[in-house]
Amino acid sequence: MKFMATTVKGLEDIAGKEIEELGGCFLRLGSERVFFEGNIELIYKLNLRCRCLHKLILLLIEGKATSLKEIYEIAKSVDYNFLKNKKFAVRTTRVGSHNYNSCQISATIGQAILDSFSLEKPKVDLENPDIEIFSYVKDDEVNIGINTTGESMHKRNYRVYDHPAALRTTIACGMIKISNWNFKEVFLDPMCGGGTIPIEAALMARNIPPGIFRKDFAFKKLSFFDENSYKNELEKALKESNNNLFNIYAFDISKKHIEGAILNSKSANVYDTINFSLRDATRKESYKGIDAKYIVLNPPYGIRQSRIKIIEKLYREFFNALKNSLCGATIVLITAAYKVLENLDINYIEVRDVKHGDLPAKIYKINI
Ligand SMILES: C[S@@+](CC[C@H](N)C(=O)[O-])C[C@H]1O[C@@H](n2cnc3c(N)ncnc32)[C@H](O)[C@@H]1O
Repeated sequence: MKFMATTVKGLEDIAGKEIEELGGCFLRLGSERVFFEGNIELIYKLNLRCRCLHKLILLLIEGKATSLKEIYEIAKSVDYNFLKNKKFAVRTTRVGSHNYNSCQISATIGQAILDSFSLEKPKVDLENPDIEIFSYVKDDEVNIGINTTGESMHKRNYRVYDHPAALRTTIACGMIKISNWNFKEVFLDPMCGGGTIPIEAALMARNIPPGIFRKDFAFKKLSFFDENSYKNELEKALKESNNNLFNIYAFDISKKHIEGAILNSKSANVYDTINFSLRDATRKESYKGIDAKYIVLNPPYGIRQSRIKIIEKLYREFFNALKNSLCGATIVLITAAYKVLENLDINYIEVRDVKHGDLPAKIYKINI
């Protein structure tokens, strides 16, 4: 079976590695996507265990098109017998410049599907489909497949407190992987907000499958779904998890956010392994007694919350405090205020362009 997984733009290689480690046979990377092969069991396994994927698509067809007519022809060449007596919806992600929008692409593919049935046509149901046909159109590239995930995996479903500038869980996991944290040394997020980074770090260290927080998966409605195989994968994943305690620290300057982060960590069942405290990350006293070797953070960008002058001061004071207190530590930081960071005298060992939602941002790996 051929698959396409969608992921964070800029973290495709990390997602590809994760898929390979879980048994996928890697084919190639695309922008925001990973292509690979595998068996049905892999659908359950990846949906349950992957930390950096958004949607896992069972590919039906790939092609090249520069018009809606050509997209129709590509879509029409698929055998849709599996949709007989089912309700379906087509959803599209479109990237690039086209003289048609994603709704028109969805409608075109939907028409091709209906036209391939002479009798007993499946019903279109955009609200509550049995099967979602997912199309990804980038420039002239067209990928059409079955969404086995449903709603994106980055929505973990443990958040009970919504931080106004929360980081995507999948980006948080990518950053933790970039840091190469070995789970043994002290890990710190000094500006943790609603706690996404320390919570994902704890889930990763405990090997807890993030899929267990989900209410549902789209694959459960597919005809080949085998309840026993799925239960086996779930049991195996849970058996491989642990309840050990790790040295994870998290600060924020806001009482409200620390309280929210604590609620989120309780909801994710990892409160016992995260040490939350109300501290100012720009003061060197805050790091006393915390020998953090891995620091992963998502500081304010100055776009949504504060102004750029304040951000300059914050970043400068933060790095000065770290240089004084945690020399030798590895820092992984995401920011959309990269000009501010690049004006500071910092040696970074790796930089990546990523997309945080619609916002262009960069992830830096720094040795302090
Ligand atoms: C972009 S948010 C972090 C969001 C978080 N990653 C999440 O997913 O919820 C940045 C956080 O930095 C905190 N912050 C700003 N200045 C700080 C400082 N000097 N010390 C500690 N935290 C600070 C803010 O209160 C805010 O919660």
